[in-house]
Amino acid sequence: MSEIKLTTEFINKLSESEKIVFFTGAGISAESGIPTFRGKDGIWNKLKPEELANFNAFLRNPQMVWEWYNHRKKIIHESKPNAGHIAIAEFEKYFDDVTVVTQNIDNLHRRAGSNKIYELHGNIERNYCINCRTFYNEELNFSEGVPKCKCGGLIRPDVVWFGEFLPADQLEASEKAAINSDIFFVVGTSAVVYPAAGLVYTAKRAGSYIVEVNIEETEVSSIADISFFGEAGKVLPAILENVKKLKGNI
Ligand code: APR
Repeated sequence: MSEIKLTTEFINKLSESEKIVFFTGAGISAESGIPTFRGKDGIWNKLKPEELANFNAFLRNPQMVWEWYNHRKKIIHESKPNAGHIAIAEFEKYFDDVTVVTQNIDNLHRRAGSNKIYELHGNIERNYCINCRTFYNEELNFSEGVPKCKCGGLIRPDVVWFGEFLPADQLEASEKAAINSDIFFVVGTSAVVYPAAGLVYTAKRAGSYIVEVNIEETEVSSIADISFFGEAGKVLPAILENVKKLKGNI
């Protein structure tokens, strides 16, 4: 990607804005070594979501679904937040209100130091009983097969599977943040999975300035006020450098 150039319009927007939202997807974690879902090496090119990321598949074969989530958890534990996650966390030094709305379950925004995070699709570090909803957030024991709750119920990862509702409190708070935002960044998402992708249109309708960061065009490129086609781990630090110049290095 050639040198990242900010338009005057975007620079003015950065200097007059207070409320910033970063809406992120799997692409922001790609440079941390976590595979995305779609695109060339996407997970869903190799594996079937209907066999792994839905409730009936879990009831049919909980062992297989857990093997897959434990495999993903291992990759996530071996990975680190990258320059993109870290730049987002640093925005908090320069703006009054910075919110991360993520579709990712990998906890990397939290590990990068972001403070205000809404998780639309859950978090791989949390688990709960499908019967009594007791949460188990410690390391689970698989020595006797799929872990069970003290009530006898199966324990599942606290992630949102296809066909399931998003956590209402996270979605509501994300919609409010989108409506109140001055700038709404759309980072590393194909924006094809709803209701999450609907937030981009909610922000646009509310008059927010839409900034897309992706290695390629997406469903929302046509409504973005500006698009940066490059890796998030390069584009976001470059935008942050401009912010530091604008707001004085704190
Ligand atoms: N920097 C910026 N963008 C990137 C990078 C990168 N380094 N690498 C890949 N991308 C872009 C891809 O071009 C693609 O548009 O990130 C996007 C990833 O899209 P998906 O794989 O579809 O992931 P996401 O949009 O997060 O998927 C949404 O679908 O499978 C479900 O629950 C899962 O949360 C997930 C949801």
